[in-house]
Amino acid sequence: EPNSLKKAFHDDFLIGTALGTSHILEKDSAANKLIISQFDAITPENIMKAEVIHPAPGKYDFNLSDKYVAYGQKNKMFIVGHTLVWHSQMPAFAQKIQNADSLRMFMTDHINTVAGRYAGKINSWDVVNEALNEDGTMRESIYYKLLGENFVKEAFDLAAKADPTAELYYNDYNIEQPAKRKGAIALIKKLQASGTKIDGVGIQGHWNINDDNLKIIEDAITEFSALGIKVAFTELDYTVIPNPWDLKGADVNQKFEENPLLNPYPKALPDSVDTKLAMRYKDLFALFLKHKDKISRVTFWGVNDGHSWLNGWPIKNRTNYPLLFDRNYKPKKAYNAVLELK
Ligand code: XIL
Repeated sequence: EPNSLKKAFHDDFLIGTALGTSHILEKDSAANKLIISQFDAITPENIMKAEVIHPAPGKYDFNLSDKYVAYGQKNKMFIVGHTLVWHSQMPAFAQKIQNADSLRMFMTDHINTVAGRYAGKINSWDVVNEALNEDGTMRESIYYKLLGENFVKEAFDLAAKADPTAELYYNDYNIEQPAKRKGAIALIKKLQASGTKIDGVGIQGHWNINDDNLKIIEDAITEFSALGIKVAFTELDYTVIPNPWDLKGADVNQKFEENPLLNPYPKALPDSVDTKLAMRYKDLFALFLKHKDKISRVTFWGVNDGHSWLNGWPIKNRTNYPLLFDRNYKPKKAYNAVLELK
């Protein structure tokens, strides 16, 4: 029985993780040991986002992104680029753009420069991130407001030209859910009908331990795959603690940070919750294996619990336990449960 995720699922799909700055700079030897032994795909958690890589007009900072790509090459990993066009984490100057021509110039320069620099080195780009609303309509982002729905096609065409070898993905959260999924399918079909290259769809997979969504996920895998594209799970984690919107009757004016109900396990994860999380991951990976012919990659959004963004989102200073490795980099029950499937 292999003691490594990437070895266990080697013939099925890639197993990825999101890397932060400390991982890329190899400042954390326990984490880097784990990354190299467990994962064969990497995604930059923040450092390729426009606000980092393109901080001012015409000014790019490739210091960390060059190191990220070199780290992936050195370790022979599948290297994901995340993300070219997203309304969030844009540089301040771009957020202030008010007309179509300037935004189109920003987007064109950005894609040409960033995707062009790493042409032939990035294996897969998240070209457009989070363009849809929950009901499947287009999100009223700066891109949609100024350029209309066609910004999606423009972005994919620019990316294909700047890097003809990278796989190009549309990435979003909750697109397994029926209404949003329908919108995504319509969007992808339009791209395909207009001759635009799109290789895959990324289902982020930021889920809650109480979600009962396996059937919905299965339908999404089948329907997206029927479009002739790959399906990847790109940002997998299960929050095990409630979010403000989960609390019935929560007072919107209350200071959530001070509500113990929203940080129920500050010291340790109770065994019962650890076991429940293991069952969630086991059922999920069993489903992934059933559809391994359709799934290209499964990426966790972080290396271990201590590093997860869910300790700080949507409210700060919490203690969450969403991943397969704990704060001491030790495998949790969920890790063993997933490996037992093989
Ligand atoms: C998150 C990072 O994990 C955080 O560190 C950052 O503060 C905000 O962004 N969808 C995405 C990711 O596509 O880029 C987001 O990453 C999580 C939601």
